[in-house]
Amino acid sequence: MPRSIPRSKLFIDGGPGTAVSEAYRILRTNIEYAQGERRIKTIAISSSTQGEGKSATAANLAAAFADSKKKVLLVDANLRDPIQQSIFDVPNRHGLSTLLGGQDELGDVAVATTIPYLTLLPAGPIPSNPAELLGSERMAQLLEEAKPSYDVILIDTPAVLSFADAQIMAVQCDSVLMVAGKGTVKKKTLGKAASVLEQVNARVLGVALNEAR
Ligand SMILES: Nc1ncnc2c1ncn2[C@@H]1O[C@H](COP(=O)(O)OP(=O)(O)O)[C@@H](O)[C@H]1O
Ligand SMILES: [Mg+2]
Repeated sequence: MPRSIPRSKLFIDGGPGTAVSEAYRILRTNIEYAQGERRIKTIAISSSTQGEGKSATAANLAAAFADSKKKVLLVDANLRDPIQQSIFDVPNRHGLSTLLGGQDELGDVAVATTIPYLTLLPAGPIPSNPAELLGSERMAQLLEEAKPSYDVILIDTPAVLSFADAQIMAVQCDSVLMVAGKGTVKKKTLGKAASVLEQVNARVLGVALNEAR
């Protein structure tokens, strides 16, 4: 992804035709073409280390899918350092953590964004047991519950080499999109992350190079 004008946290407001929104549209198209016999509906978005642009990619890719009138659910499953609520400017008092904690239902906490076709499930308050919540039966149920209502479900996660969370989400998803900070992440580090994902038989869709700050 080319570097965007830092004026906005969400780059898709650069409008159609700008280099950045075009790059995400190309990424979306590549994902659509990557669909083999098996439909890819749930995609975990991760990276080897933090700060490589997972959340920015997840938000912009979600917008790119929505732009093509695909019903998108963006789930902020980075329960340790959630950011999607501020990118989309929605409250975060309820979200994935309260849903998995049994206090809420999906319909109560998923919020419409200003982008048509794009629904966000914010992370909610930071829980004490993120990995446990993400690996719970309720998380699997939640994905099953959401699938019929959306064309694509994108899941923002913590970095693969930081916590088990990304691995836990990867196994529950059809595919994993790895984001790699251009010039910041070493091949060896990316290789390490790939083998961590391989250990759990996660299907890596590909690597998106991102020119993060
Ligand atoms: N393509 C990009 N252009 C400009 N800034 C970017 C880009 N990608 C990421 N950033 C910025 O870099 C920082 C880290 O990105 P973020 O998506 O939060 O990383 P991660 O979720 O992998 O930790 C954020 O401040 C984000 O706005
Ligand atoms: Mg992030």
